[in-house]
Amino acid sequence: MAGELIYLDYNATTPLDPEVIEEMRPYMEEHFGNPSSSYSYGARTRGAVEQARAQVADLLGCEPGELVFTSGGTESNNFAMKGTAFANREKGNHIVTTRIEHPAVLEVCAYLERLDFDVTYLPVDEFGLVNASSVEEAITDQTVLVTVMHANNEVGTIQPIERISELASERGLVFHTDAAQSVGKIPVLVRDLGVSLLSLAGHKVYAPKGIGALYVREGLRLEKFMHGAGQERGMRAGTENVMGIVGLGKACEIAGRDLDRNAGRMMETRDALQEGLTRAIEGVRTNGHPGKRLPNTLSASIRGVDADVLINDIQAGVAASAGAACHSGQTEVSHVLRAMGVPESWARGTIRLSTGRTTEADEIEAAIKTITEAVTRLRRTATGD
Ligand SMILES: Cc1ncc(COP(=O)(O)O)c(C=O)c1O
Repeated sequence: MAGELIYLDYNATTPLDPEVIEEMRPYMEEHFGNPSSSYSYGARTRGAVEQARAQVADLLGCEPGELVFTSGGTESNNFAMKGTAFANREKGNHIVTTRIEHPAVLEVCAYLERLDFDVTYLPVDEFGLVNASSVEEAITDQTVLVTVMHANNEVGTIQPIERISELASERGLVFHTDAAQSVGKIPVLVRDLGVSLLSLAGHKVYAPKGIGALYVREGLRLEKFMHGAGQERGMRAGTENVMGIVGLGKACEIAGRDLDRNAGRMMETRDALQEGLTRAIEGVRTNGHPGKRLPNTLSASIRGVDADVLINDIQAGVAASAGAACHSGQTEVSHVLRAMGVPESWARGTIRLSTGRTTEADEIEAAIKTITEAVTRLRRTATGD
């Protein structure tokens, strides 16, 4: 792959898996029927949607009827949170979350605060871990929702979801987790996790952008999110994104089938990257939990450089991100690193590198070389040498 851009930003988005493209192709070229139509064209796409639902359910270990297709992680989070808040208004107005959530959760919280909901933002430790007992302490008789992300998009730390869900269910509370980053990288089984709601995003698992799903535990009451016709059992109106749904179904089948192999490969290349960078560059530290971390994610702080300048400098050779991926290019220290208490001098030079299923050892070597040379150059410029 010499001379080509080395893509190390798989937490931002993934390419389509070739098998996913093949699965979707007939729904682009041939089968265009509306799944709500009664004739055979409709039956064909309706069948495809239901097959995809079964494939996603298989990956998550739930019933197909517990899934709602959405437009992605952001919509799933909005639906889960507003749907729960609005359906339980008479019970209370308090929400518990963490300081390190994705904006697709934090901005929903901010919106709900404007509607007179109270939100407790739990702190995290230096590894980005939430203490389950802090969740317990935060719960009041007004609490209607606890939402804690499964794995963090910037540093990869995996939260103790099972323990938090026990606490929530002991109190009969709805517990949502944003699993946009964990699905396809580690096992994500809703019954093991004990969650009531779980969000996933297609474009993080080699499916198209603009498709996602929300797991809604059987019997859970949610206020409708999208009003209109009766699609998705009346929970999410609008003619289905059949191609996207078919792609997501296949992507989930692949994610389950190849989970161990893919996770092993991502971890191997991530570890090589971590080792290589810390060996080649003086003054590098990594962020996130050393063990409880996504297998593909490396948040590296490099002393004496500005992350956005570094990312800009290497952009012809290596694609990575400074701060959170969804707003790449921002120089402000990310809310996640701030919450973890990463000192300003380190946080400024923090880049996120995330490997994928197809990342090769020679790409890692080349990336280490590119980053090392850039850091040397930038440090020299900074000191005027
Ligand atoms: C943890 C997390 N949640 C939610 C999202 C948003 O998902 P989508 O882009 O599908 O709306 C992202 C995307 O970066 C994410 O990393």
